[in-house]
Amino acid sequence: MEIIRSVHRMQEAAARFRAAGERIAFVPTMGCLHEGHLSLMRWARRHADRLVVSIFVNPTQFGPKEDYRRYPRPFREDRRLCQGAGVDVLFHPSVRAMYRADHSVWVVEEALSQGLCGAHRPGHFRGVTTVVTKLLHAVQPDLAVFGQKDAQQAAIMRRMVLDLNMPVRIVVRPIVREPDGLAMSSRNRYLAPEERVQAVCLRRALETAERMVKGQGIRQTRRLRAAMRRVISRYPLARLEYIELVDAESLKPVKTVKSPVLAALAVRIGATRLIDNTVLKSGA
Ligand code: PAJ
Repeated sequence: MEIIRSVHRMQEAAARFRAAGERIAFVPTMGCLHEGHLSLMRWARRHADRLVVSIFVNPTQFGPKEDYRRYPRPFREDRRLCQGAGVDVLFHPSVRAMYRADHSVWVVEEALSQGLCGAHRPGHFRGVTTVVTKLLHAVQPDLAVFGQKDAQQAAIMRRMVLDLNMPVRIVVRPIVREPDGLAMSSRNRYLAPEERVQAVCLRRALETAERMVKGQGIRQTRRLRAAMRRVISRYPLARLEYIELVDAESLKPVKTVKSPVLAALAVRIGATRLIDNTVLKSGA
């Protein structure tokens, strides 16, 4: 496995692969890798000749009061996991290698970024669209693989490559969970033991909505949201940030479950912000 830290070197490696007729799959991450990231890598490994993974904690997608500084950076362990997953190139640039001091160009998505996490994390998705564009220009992949865990991010990525004519296929893979249902996340390691126990509330709320739609045929999102809210309120350490039920493609709020609906929520457990989601489909 080659470790590359400069954009220019990464572009040279990509050019070499492409000249040899090899297809490149790319998994962008912020490191602190877990089974969720590894599932993306395994899929990517099987669907291309070359696998490039990036580890870059992107400062521009964190708000001033967010966890950029303390975001975990266990690089040795991450490198070992990448090696085991058959990664060809680990792209690990410094902040200075990615952002010139006078950086002034941004990529902004203006519709899908408005609601859900976008409403609570101003500037977050501008940071994500900008850094992913920069990473794609460095890696020049045929495929880029994202997780459904960050459903809004995935929808924005799909829209971005369409609207900007980027020659890359976006692949979105399912959420990987702990045995009790908690979605895997680099931030789970912030949770104290009792917080970790109560962190299942996100999945429990989503399961409630799934049961109401599938088992009882309830379609009104108002009722689904109220029931989800009640589940969260049973967990004393949980503070709800939002629960939204939106069209899975446009991310616009809907009144009933007809076409697939994304049920998504963000909850703070102590100081840790967790997100999760599921796609609800009416039986009909
Ligand atoms: P990060 O949070 O490290 O996640 C990297 C990728 O792993 C994302 O596509 C995310 O959706 C996916 N992922 C995380 N947890 C997952 C889980 N439990 N199951 C399946 N996939 C999971 O998302 C980012 O980094 C950044 O915003 C990035 C795209 C790298 C831009 O900086």
